[in-house]
Amino acid sequence: MSPFRLTRTLPEDASGAALRADVRAGLIRTPKTLPPKWFYDARGSALFDRITTLPEYYPTRAEREILLARSPEIAAATGARTLVELGSGSSDKTRHLLDALVGLRTYVPVDVSASALEQAGAALLAQRPALDVHALIADFTTAVDLPVDAPGPRLVAFLGGTIGNLLPAERAAFLHSVRSLVAPGDALLLGTDLVKDEATLVAAYDDAAGVTAAFNKNVLTVINRELGADFDLDDFAHVARWDAEREWIEMRLRARTAVTVKVPAVNLAVDFEAGEELRTEVSAKFREAGVRAELAAARWEVTRWWTDRAGRFALSLSTAR
Ligand SMILES: C[S@@+](CC[C@H](N)C(=O)[O-])C[C@H]1O[C@@H](n2cnc3c(N)ncnc32)[C@H](O)[C@@H]1O
Repeated sequence: MSPFRLTRTLPEDASGAALRADVRAGLIRTPKTLPPKWFYDARGSALFDRITTLPEYYPTRAEREILLARSPEIAAATGARTLVELGSGSSDKTRHLLDALVGLRTYVPVDVSASALEQAGAALLAQRPALDVHALIADFTTAVDLPVDAPGPRLVAFLGGTIGNLLPAERAAFLHSVRSLVAPGDALLLGTDLVKDEATLVAAYDDAAGVTAAFNKNVLTVINRELGADFDLDDFAHVARWDAEREWIEMRLRARTAVTVKVPAVNLAVDFEAGEELRTEVSAKFREAGVRAELAAARWEVTRWWTDRAGRFALSLSTAR
């Protein structure tokens, strides 16, 4: 049986330093913002997994439908021996791809969440004892160092519409940096959620059971625990709003009253006015022409474009030029 390897590619204290820097920079600016990667401690990862099962959250079901239908075609087109998956989370949908990739030697899931990688690795190896799984705890917005045993051809997967959590300039930098992980002829499988009616989009980020609200507020719990802050979660309301001009959903936390929050680890006392909103995530929605243009600008050529039958979500396969 192949051992499950888990490598932390950043120094042990790097994520603490990055959290301090992001919290300091994000809470002193106007409007206040935080990057979405800080949702994902063990509880945040578990809450995200619950979100993927909610009736309102169509992206996971739509992307799974495409993967089920197209994985054999993806396997034939790429002949991948290494699959690198960025922001892999539970790796649950990835199983359809792993089933089809018969020549695969190594699977490299990459995530900031150690708990998600550990659980996914254990579940995968229980079903596929011969698979070589080399998980990386890493931030995909910085350069990722792949393990030495990651033979080509390589396929990089970035699923779940997670690319929409990056701002346009960050997306461009990200697509270039992913291109540098592979050789000409290697492939990128990209999941992008598509523009659709506002009610469907907002419901997907503001479910009736309140799971997305708990996920959104989890970033405050992380800051309380890691930086000794005194956010009272009840002081903040979950907000999901469609920005029709930028074509993205914004998740925010709105202060119900005026509050001052202390964050001792970064020596801050942060004032929130009543009604003031802290942006915690954007989730951009895409159109085919835009995805093709962004990929082309980073030397990726789209060779396949598939959507689910309802046309809600797209999966594209691109070749590195
Ligand atoms: C929206 S979830 C998608 C999970 C899974 N790929 C899916 O399709 O269901 C985003 C995943 O990316 C991870 N993540 C978020 N920001 C990250 C970053 N900067 N670097 C590495 N992983 C990140 C999270 O921990 C989470 O597992």
